[in-house]
Amino acid sequence: MFGDIKISPSILSADFMNFERDIRMLERGGTDFIHVDVMDGHFVPNLTLGVPFVSQLRKITDIPLDVHLMISNPLEQLDWYLKAGADWVSVHMEALHGEGEVREFIQRTREAGVHPALTLKPDYPVEELEPYIAEVDMVLVMSVFPGFSGQSYIEGSEDRVGKVAEMAKRLNPDLLIEVDGGISAGRTAGLVCAQGADVLVAGSGVFKAEDPEAAIGILRNAGAEAR
Ligand code: DX5
Ligand code: ZN
Repeated sequence: MFGDIKISPSILSADFMNFERDIRMLERGGTDFIHVDVMDGHFVPNLTLGVPFVSQLRKITDIPLDVHLMISNPLEQLDWYLKAGADWVSVHMEALHGEGEVREFIQRTREAGVHPALTLKPDYPVEELEPYIAEVDMVLVMSVFPGFSGQSYIEGSEDRVGKVAEMAKRLNPDLLIEVDGGISAGRTAGLVCAQGADVLVAGSGVFKAEDPEAAIGILRNAGAEAR
């Protein structure tokens, strides 16, 4: 919370026929993370990337991999992603059944030397994070309903970022707050960073920009200026 702004471009918006070219572009642009959107066609309607993609990505880049699991029953597949080379794993509160499963996710992820993160859809009460906030390294606040890139930012999502920042101030000042969905340098990057966001996910905001390589720095500056 209120550290340097980090950028995590979503590889889902890259050119699937040219992943390596696009990854080298992100490296040249100085990206902090690569965000991998895993969707199972069940927890969300869309089907995207999975374990083989993460393990092959791991082999060709040293950039930390920020894996966002939008899947049902994440504990069943968690170990695969931990072993595939994820550096950060975000799991949805909606997909974990009760406190026991949330704690199991955190513990198993930590034991694997990976950073555990919890995430939640835009209509899930942020207060539900409070019992776990001291135990995770990141909270991912969704500013769209997960499922597709290119959606519009849901107005008011910055208030949810502010609520997480307030909790983090009391309980875990080192927590990173990540925001995902409809983030661009024009307006929304500033809105969420003013409320305490540290990590900006951007699919369209990077890959659909006129100059995607430059877009990484532009987004980071837009966020930093709003602080
Ligand atoms: C949405 C995904 C996002 C998405 C971001 O379900 O979790 O990461 O790909 O794309 P943009 O930045 O285009 O909203
Ligand atoms: Zn995502």
